[in-house]
Amino acid sequence: AANKTFTMIKPDAVAENHIGGITKMIEEGGFRVVAMKKTQLTEERAGKFYEVHKERPFYGDLVKYMSSGPIVAMILEKDNAVEDFRKLIGATNPAQAEEGTIRKVYAKSIEANAVHGSDSDENAQIEGDFFFAADERF
Ligand code: CMP
Repeated sequence: AANKTFTMIKPDAVAENHIGGITKMIEEGGFRVVAMKKTQLTEERAGKFYEVHKERPFYGDLVKYMSSGPIVAMILEKDNAVEDFRKLIGATNPAQAEEGTIRKVYAKSIEANAVHGSDSDENAQIEGDFFFAADERF
């Protein structure tokens, strides 16, 4: 399996000062930070990022939420990164997130669920390229 994934720390987790706590869980989970930046998505860019969900009922709210404040975007490296990172973050719905997962600790709702994680190697590449130029990756 490929060794990169992409994550965002979402607006509520950034607003509540959890950048450090979440990044600590990521590093202690065996991931290396290849690229990292704090930025804010416009509604247009959030809509583009989540385009695959545009027919879903939650799309409009999701786009508003994801553009409501700054996020922290990262490219992460580890063997089997996509699958292992999805295990580390836990279920999308925090009510179903397992003990010890990032969402169990930090997520507030199915929408404000603290972090995003790519769902495939292909999307990890696309999502990383959405935020980072070649000279921002180490
Ligand atoms: P994420 O992994 O970033 O991918 C899509 C996001 O949509 C998800 O996390 C949640 O923030 C949000 N979302 C809101 N409602 C739902 C839902 N019912 N099912 C899945 N995702 C949802």
